[in-house]
Amino acid sequence: MDHFDYRDGQLFAEQVSLNELAEQVGTPCYVYSRATLERHFKAYEQALGDHPHLICYAVKANSNLAVLNILARLGAGFDIVSIGELERVLAAGGDPSRVVFSGVAKQEHEMARALELGIKCFNVESRPELERLNAVAERLGVVAPVSLRVNPDVDAGTHPYISTGLKDNKFGIPVDEALDVYQQAAALPNLKVSGLDCHIGSQLTDIAPFLDALERLLVLLDRLRDKGIEVEHLDLGGGLGVPYRDETPPAPFAYASKLLERLARWPGGEQLTLLFEPGRSIAANAGILLTRVEFLKPGETKNFAIIDAAMNDLIRPALYQAWQAIIPVDTRAARDAAVYDVVGPVCETGDFLGKDRELAIAPGDLLAVRSAGAYGFVMASNYNSRPRPAEVMVDGERFQIVRRRETLSELRAGESVLEELQ
Ligand code: LLP
Repeated sequence: MDHFDYRDGQLFAEQVSLNELAEQVGTPCYVYSRATLERHFKAYEQALGDHPHLICYAVKANSNLAVLNILARLGAGFDIVSIGELERVLAAGGDPSRVVFSGVAKQEHEMARALELGIKCFNVESRPELERLNAVAERLGVVAPVSLRVNPDVDAGTHPYISTGLKDNKFGIPVDEALDVYQQAAALPNLKVSGLDCHIGSQLTDIAPFLDALERLLVLLDRLRDKGIEVEHLDLGGGLGVPYRDETPPAPFAYASKLLERLARWPGGEQLTLLFEPGRSIAANAGILLTRVEFLKPGETKNFAIIDAAMNDLIRPALYQAWQAIIPVDTRAARDAAVYDVVGPVCETGDFLGKDRELAIAPGDLLAVRSAGAYGFVMASNYNSRPRPAEVMVDGERFQIVRRRETLSELRAGESVLEELQ
């Protein structure tokens, strides 16, 4: 459930009219709802109840400081994949001891900074990474907490670009090799084995692949135990899907209860701290992209609604053929309905936000692209020298610009023309 609803024919974000917001901020802009973010985060908290757990929000999904700060206030941990994300977490008031560091190619300086701050755990993805981390920790005279990201080889049944738990993905350590790598980790003096980790993919709409993965991880934990290696936590990654259209993904409660049920049957399962790294299921439906119709262009075979947002602002439709709902902000005026491809101003045929959408619109009307709170702004670019849009956080009756629109001079910041040769 989210907090974007119609009232008397006008779309609101919580108590704020999007018509009024667009007047003040301009378009395109991303609009997030604090109440929705909180609701989604709390759904995980409540689902885990008394079982020891930490919900590490996946910063990559939406890394705006206001988003991170809202979650930090609720006691969230964070899953980061770069030093840039770690610095954002700090700037937003997040607690480094609740941070897990994922990613296949952590650099030495990134490891050093994370060690200095005392993060909770490094999710290590290969032997060379393990050795690098040990060396960096040794240099700093500390012990690094590690968890191996294991690739359980389960098919998440999701889009190939966002499926990460299969053998032929670059991610993780094959489950069959993991025992060996754990023994290596346990033997390295500046590492401490603290967890086991996996992340099998994103936008999963079924619990079965998660349970398959858990089953394989429990077999591995049994083997580790036989070798005298015990972990404190099990990190099951992110990946829970959201309804973009007619998908019916399990709610965190249904997901967590199945996992807890299975863990209860595993010796020691009650004490095993569970970590999750949800991104999309917290942020996606807590945001929309607000855009205005520039022109309607009837064609021989297609009608186009040309809007002021484009693939550089929201790339998911172009990159993954992702379907996101596009709805009018104001339904009060009488309009004729027609079927449109909703396209942006960028010079690419792939620049669309939706295809074959029935809409009753006129030039100048506002549209909301729904489910845009995750992997929206964070994947925006300056292609075609377009400034990135503003981001706005709604909180009840008020709203705040939490990232102002980029300016034209910022687009050229750091660039220079070639100096004359002497
Ligand atoms: N943990 C790890 C290690 C990940 O790689 C990811 C996402 C997450 C957690 C969070 O997954 P989530 O709960 O959001 O599904 N740009 C794509 C999604 C890429 C996901 C990458 N990894 C999209 O727009 O659909």
